[in-house]
Amino acid sequence: MTEKLIQRFKEMYGKEGEVRAYFAPGRVNLIGEHTDYNGGHVFPCALTLGTYGIVRDREDRVLRFYSANFEKLGVIETSLDDLIPDKAAGWTNYPKGVMWAFEKRGYQLTHGMDILIYGNIPNGSGLSSSASLEVLTGLILKDTFGFEQVSMIDVALIGQDSENNFNGCNCGIMDQFASAMGKKDHAIFLDTNTLNYEYAPVVLEDAKIVITNSKVKHSLVNSAYNDRRNECETALKELQSVVNIKTLGDLTEEEYEAHKDAIKDPVRQKRAKHAVYENQRTIRAVEALKNNDVELFGKLMNASHKSLRYDYEVSCGEIDILVDLAQAMPGVIGSRITGGGFGGCTVSIVKNDTVDAFIREIGKTYQEKVGHEAEFYVVEIGDGAKII
Ligand code: GLA
Repeated sequence: MTEKLIQRFKEMYGKEGEVRAYFAPGRVNLIGEHTDYNGGHVFPCALTLGTYGIVRDREDRVLRFYSANFEKLGVIETSLDDLIPDKAAGWTNYPKGVMWAFEKRGYQLTHGMDILIYGNIPNGSGLSSSASLEVLTGLILKDTFGFEQVSMIDVALIGQDSENNFNGCNCGIMDQFASAMGKKDHAIFLDTNTLNYEYAPVVLEDAKIVITNSKVKHSLVNSAYNDRRNECETALKELQSVVNIKTLGDLTEEEYEAHKDAIKDPVRQKRAKHAVYENQRTIRAVEALKNNDVELFGKLMNASHKSLRYDYEVSCGEIDILVDLAQAMPGVIGSRITGGGFGGCTVSIVKNDTVDAFIREIGKTYQEKVGHEAEFYVVEIGDGAKII
């Protein structure tokens, strides 16, 4: 892969000069959804799919970007003196946003670069292609300019800052953290309130992680996401009038039930309920995995989906079809929507001897009911971003 991309780079930008290669993965979240901006826990893992970058330094301040995924767009040229969001700049707003966020922190980018990008995460699938591009850019800058004091956790935080304040999506830290800090065969149990984290081995002897892509992405994803965030913030303020908490993640289920009447709107109550219960479910799920109780882990995944569907309302018809079919199939340990929602992917834990039937049967029924195909990926858990 890297050799091919270097060759492509030289075709686009010329042969001379040294090039460097980088990779940052996408992620799948096993459980702990919409908890990361509510001070709760998440449990994502990095994939072996992700975004590659090939880079060569320039002496001037010019930035040239080329994506092998969007060949028709050709080379997009800008400059380090022009780091402002611009609709017409398309995908290059992601790397530009990260450059902007580095400079904002006082890290000076002293020269331009020629950059080629290629990603093998299916576009718009909710497996964090944009976070992987942000983390990739952060790693490129850290390495290129020798910013040793910038840790990989900082790279994740800078990526999130760029997404929030340059690209206009008020996301939490989960996606960038998983891409920057992932570890092969492990999921990351992250407390988003403190950023304390722990790697938990995901040893599924007789099962696989299967991602199903619904291939739908409903519009208004960003605005619906930001709405959920606002609803949770308002619910938190209402709760704070009766109980001393900093985030919804500070509450147990019992405490939530005791104080929920402080939340004046029934919709906001459901949102806060999800945030509290999903956080507790995530803590329990990781405990179950540590005790090798994969069955319990799967039941908690199913419960997570139910809560996302009815209380948080971030699922959609196509995704519910996939989850209902999966949960009804013998040999499926658990299945739920993963990521921000309103389309995208489900994640399921499927017994080895059921994987073929899972893909065949769910694929067929989904096509009949929805009118287009789903895509299935039997995935491996990979490492976080790295220089290659
Ligand atoms: C998106 C966001 C994350 C997280 C998930 C939902 O992926 O980028 O920060 O909030 O949605 O769990």
